[in-house]
Amino acid sequence: MLTAENTLQMIAQARRMPPPAAYRGKSYVSSPEAYQRLYRQSIETPEQFWNHIADELQWQERGETVIAGDMPDFAFFPGSFLNVCENCVDRWATHPLSANKVAIFFEGENGDRKALTYRQLHDEVQKCANVLTSLGLRPGDVVSVYMQNLAETFVVLLACLRTGIVYNTVFAGFSPEALRERIVSSGAKAVVCANGSYRRGKVLRLKETVDRAVEGVSGVEHVVVFRRVPDLETPMTPGRDLDYDELMAAAPRVHAPARLECNAPGLLIFTSGTSGKPKGIVHAGGGFLLGTYAYTKYQLDLSPEDVYWNTADIGWLTSHIFVLVGGLACGVTTVLYEGALDHPHPGRLYEVIERYRVNKLFSAPTAYRMLMKHGEEVARRFDLSSLELMASVGEPLNPEAWHWLHRVVGGGRAVINNTWGQTETGGTPLASLPGAIDMKPGSCGVPFFGHAVDVVDPAGNPVPDGVPGYLVIRNVFPTLARDVYGDRARYVNSYFSQMPGVYFTGDSAVRDADGHYWVLGRVDDVINVSGHRISTMEMESALIQHPAVVEAAVVGQPDEVRGQVPVVFVTLDRGYEAGPELEASLKEQVVRNIGSFARPHQVYFVDAMPKTRSGKIIRRMLREILRDGEVRGDKTGLEDADIIDKLVADITER
Ligand code: PRX
Repeated sequence: MLTAENTLQMIAQARRMPPPAAYRGKSYVSSPEAYQRLYRQSIETPEQFWNHIADELQWQERGETVIAGDMPDFAFFPGSFLNVCENCVDRWATHPLSANKVAIFFEGENGDRKALTYRQLHDEVQKCANVLTSLGLRPGDVVSVYMQNLAETFVVLLACLRTGIVYNTVFAGFSPEALRERIVSSGAKAVVCANGSYRRGKVLRLKETVDRAVEGVSGVEHVVVFRRVPDLETPMTPGRDLDYDELMAAAPRVHAPARLECNAPGLLIFTSGTSGKPKGIVHAGGGFLLGTYAYTKYQLDLSPEDVYWNTADIGWLTSHIFVLVGGLACGVTTVLYEGALDHPHPGRLYEVIERYRVNKLFSAPTAYRMLMKHGEEVARRFDLSSLELMASVGEPLNPEAWHWLHRVVGGGRAVINNTWGQTETGGTPLASLPGAIDMKPGSCGVPFFGHAVDVVDPAGNPVPDGVPGYLVIRNVFPTLARDVYGDRARYVNSYFSQMPGVYFTGDSAVRDADGHYWVLGRVDDVINVSGHRISTMEMESALIQHPAVVEAAVVGQPDEVRGQVPVVFVTLDRGYEAGPELEASLKEQVVRNIGSFARPHQVYFVDAMPKTRSGKIIRRMLREILRDGEVRGDKTGLEDADIIDKLVADITER
């Protein structure tokens, strides 16, 4: 785990590794000087930079204004019109050089394989757009999508982008309660789901989850079901549930892309904030295309010649940024994989790379650390010589994993790009420009064009290089979230109120003397488990609904593979006895309310919580006891200092 102390040590020890000449030669930006010059220009005249990006896209109508207003009320290309789907699909499907090129290689965990060319994808998307509109859905309506990585998921989402229907993907590992909350808060009129999903050799019954989630929710008029698992019994509710394949078979093959204003909402994705209730982050369709195209092009050097695999699940925004919108806007051939990356054997990820000769891979530190755990021997069994670049996002990529990846998977030859981004930034404001910037294992690279990133003290003043502070962004950019769905005040309060005039990321970071950024982690109560962002408050609210629990506190504990794991502390009501049965029941409570990825690693039953005089639980102390077996920091704020010894005994004796 990165902490301020060991990061400063890491920065001091970081070795600079220049990009290999062979890679540099193919890169869009191939020298540090070129990066510096372009970066300076993009900050001085952002209009010029975004206009240049806009020139490479297809517009329905393009006006003169590039940026209007400032945070939190801003717009990019206001009054201009473009269709995201047209840029991601039609552009390639109607061009003779790319129409018959593979857009998506799908590989199911169970071994199913399928390829869709851009022309075929175009047909499917147009049919699906007709299906959605035939259900009465209109631009601005919300559709919840509860599907794993499937070609059909891409078709549905692109069809939404084509019609102006706002989609909300919900990770297909979320529980019925979590799905229901998202459906209700977004006012979804329809749900599209798969009947099941293959995961670690089992079939997850997604349609059953949807049935439980929509029970009694009157706003959901239709549930469209794609039968991914053909022989899975799938109860259908007459009048509400419809079969995807039947609808598609009957749909006309031509659909004209809707005329959409650049700032109209395009997609909605929920993420954890500091309170118990997830936030529906709204991204503008056109803005999202503009920004993600730029990130993908320059940070991955993506082009139609690449075979590119981003392992992210479609339930997380990474997949939308770097594949669905950014990747397809670059005309790439993408690999889409359903299921666990080490199933049915630990070399599955390598097998897929070898089969498709993937040259650009994008994954998360937790997956990279999993590969490392499976060992070098497994990697050696496969031909990974096609790999030129490996990117990462979601959590710190520790130098040990970095070096292993570089040496074993990348053969000492591939470039590694550790990027930093958030659901709210809709992209990665920090990353390397892989042909231009020296790699430094552990760092998140440099600010992207048009992003004025800074590290500041609590008063908002810049801190000197080498000093940790809050990570902020001083200017607007096209993929910056435009709203929290249905709660403008929460949007303004969460991101723009801590320090006037800047976007507050909620992360802390250090900038080194070379201008590289090192992200240390969250400054709020959000933890990061295998790249899944979980609010500790959300878990605590689930736990206190259990009849045995009086108080609950959740903290993140460092973990070698998953980055962090949630650890729970509870005090019990009279009449309840601590023990393995209750521990299992509390873990289940979290799984039921949120999903299995949030399952607590450990539950500690304690007599009392460390609290301030105003009654707030001091989670920092619980973290310290877990880590050091004692509280070393300041204890003066405690309401009852005597409880610390008891807590230490309760926790360390387990
Ligand atoms: O704390 C940062 C961490 O992940 C958070 C964002 O999570 P999420 O919204 O789920 O990410 C979606 C990615 C598009 C950040 O606030 N984080 C992300 N990347 C890194 C990171 N922490 C350290 N290093 C990174 N490269």
